[in-house]
Amino acid sequence: MKGERVTSGFAGGRLLSIADLSDQDIASLLARAAEYRARLAARAPIEPRLQGRTQINLFFEDSTRTNMSFALAGQRLGAHVLNVPVAASSVHKGESLLDTAKTLAAMDADAMILRTREEGLQERLAEELDCAVINGGAGAAEHPTQALLDAATLKAAIGDLEGATIAICGDVRHSRVARSNAALLPRLGAALRFVGPAELLPEPGAYPHIERFDAPADGFAGADAVMALRLQKERMESALSMDAAAFHEAYGLTHETLAHAKPGAFAMHPGPMNRGIEIAGALADDPDRSLVLRQVAYGVPTRMACLDLLLSD
Ligand code: NCD
Repeated sequence: MKGERVTSGFAGGRLLSIADLSDQDIASLLARAAEYRARLAARAPIEPRLQGRTQINLFFEDSTRTNMSFALAGQRLGAHVLNVPVAASSVHKGESLLDTAKTLAAMDADAMILRTREEGLQERLAEELDCAVINGGAGAAEHPTQALLDAATLKAAIGDLEGATIAICGDVRHSRVARSNAALLPRLGAALRFVGPAELLPEPGAYPHIERFDAPADGFAGADAVMALRLQKERMESALSMDAAAFHEAYGLTHETLAHAKPGAFAMHPGPMNRGIEIAGALADDPDRSLVLRQVAYGVPTRMACLDLLLSD
């Protein structure tokens, strides 16, 4: 990418939203992610396809798994990876996010992974940066690599997603993970459902292709997997009408509520989890039913696939 003018879409060096991906891009990414997953699991050697490349992780919002997973992904492919310590950076001396990003990109960066609180900012930054740009989480807007790793995990667990039913339960309204999954999973042939109280679901009419349910017993019926989402209080404009205990009682994902789904259905969660609120600890820890750590494991090969297909010659 270096030296070329970034245009738009995945072919133009950007992965800011699922809409940047063609169907062929999605198929190639999921296939490459599965290959890398198998090689990592077998501790098999991996060709350093990004040797000499520089990847900068610039996360303006807190992150554990996404940041580390992008770092490992780049390292596994041989790239130089820099994690910017934002809390100790010049942003706090009044430098704008744009200047910070441009300064770092000027260090011959080939790719920058951005996490921002503001929606729409990454599109503006990408216009100004001469390197590939990947969204590592943008406000409540999108988190495309999380949706890709969710799809990769689901395919490994249940097979082809054509005809599968996936329910997302909890704070869908404030979730970039739900938005990216709503854009991706239906393109893979899955039916998606949103489950939660009206105050935590998107505005009515916002997702006409997605069925909405208030009651988990209805929304989970026949589902192959249910993804629980935490209450994202940092993005709520007004207080929720129920407390955490009432939310757990009504919408918490437990062995009991998952029993409404298909026999053997899986529980998912993008993390960070609040045990005993949106998901019961016993279910999250059940290796037969929980995909939570498999999602984390798939994060690295999925991001390897993204970096590889964006950057390698
Ligand atoms: C999520 C995020 O940051 O969007 N976590 C993640 O990236 N795995 C979900 C969340 O914050 O609840």
